Amino acid sequence: MALLAVLVGLSLRFFTQSKNIENLYLFSRSPIKQYCNKARHFCVDFQNEEGLAKASEAIKEKLDLIIIAIGLLHKEGKGELKPEKNLKDFQSQNALEVYFINAVVPMLIAQYFLPKLPTDRKSVFCALSARVGSISDNHLGGWYSYRASKAALNQMIRTIAIELERKNKNAI
Ligand SMILES: NC(=O)c1ccc[n+]([C@@H]2O[C@H](COP(=O)([O-])OP(=O)(O)OC[C@H]3O[C@@H](n4cnc5c(N)ncnc54)[C@H](OP(=O)(O)O)[C@@H]3O)[C@@H](O)[C@H]2O)c1
Repeated sequence: MALLAVLVGLSLRFFTQSKNIENLYLFSRSPIKQYCNKARHFCVDFQNEEGLAKASEAIKEKLDLIIIAIGLLHKEGKGELKPEKNLKDFQSQNALEVYFINAVVPMLIAQYFLPKLPTDRKSVFCALSARVGSISDNHLGGWYSYRASKAALNQMIRTIAIELERKNKNAI
């Protein structure tokens, strides 16, 4: 089995120790400490599509499992960003950044990497969403941008699933 993981937050131990996984491709913008022989790390800046294109060209084999674990809720330091407590806190640039990372980046990854799922066996493409992306479950309010971006992600993934069902019946 070959796995592509777009992460940093996600613990790597399970994947590095699993005997079922022969090759592991890790994507992040920062270096990764936990390493093993079967892992290959790609430094990818998701703001730059060229990096994704290069990485997808470099990976020649089929991928059985793709996990997208990046996400943006808050950011400290330069360009600080916080989840909105109320409407007054809403800022368009921050909202667009959160939407880009949480909803658009998974779409770009899907564009480049869904063709790498095998068609002759089961495979999985997944992206971590959040319960706060649920519209019916929103009873507390706040976090406008994060909630909306995860709701958008859910719709993107649902729509990808419909398209994929026609092209690759074994993919989940
Ligand atoms: N933690 C929770 O309670 C919770 C609950 C529900 C859903 N989720 C979702 O689960 C996923 C993982 O959550 P987490 O708590 O593990 O988050 P996290 O620790 O903040 O990890 C998110 C990762 O996304 C990466 N990232 C953010 N912006 C990026 C960019 N522009 N380019 C490249 N990488 C970028 C960060 O990389 P750097 O290390 O380089 O900054 C970070 O390692 C997210 O999608 C989150 O929304 C989390």
